[in-house]
Amino acid sequence: MDYSKKVMDHFMNPRNMGSIENSDGIGEVGNAKCGDIMKIYLKIDTGVIVGAKFRTFGCGAAVASSSMATELIKGKTLKEAWALSNRAVAEALDGLPPIKMHCSMLAEEAIHEAINDYRRKQGLEPWDE
Ligand code: FES
Repeated sequence: MDYSKKVMDHFMNPRNMGSIENSDGIGEVGNAKCGDIMKIYLKIDTGVIVGAKFRTFGCGAAVASSSMATELIKGKTLKEAWALSNRAVAEALDGLPPIKMHCSMLAEEAIHEAINDYRRKQGLEPWDE
């Protein structure tokens, strides 16, 4: 399978790996087929993502997707982060092989879960998928 240089870079040297103590929102998702799991932690200040970290137990494409996705949402508003699609994550990685596109989906879903976790904790309605 051919991975882009960027995928390999983010897989070998993942950015933002780990967890955030006292995070404001946590999203955990899994893919039932492959069994991979991704957890994203957000630190949020007045509607802006000031910190994002991840723990991913999964394939290389999932690790690279979490690394890239957390980079992309830092400094963004919650609305902007919500709008980040798995395609945008894959494009930022210079593409993923078609059978690995579902791995980037985990990042989109985990970010949505984390944002809604934050919204629930604030007593707000969760946003719709
Ligand atoms: Fe399952 Fe990549 S193979 S997330």
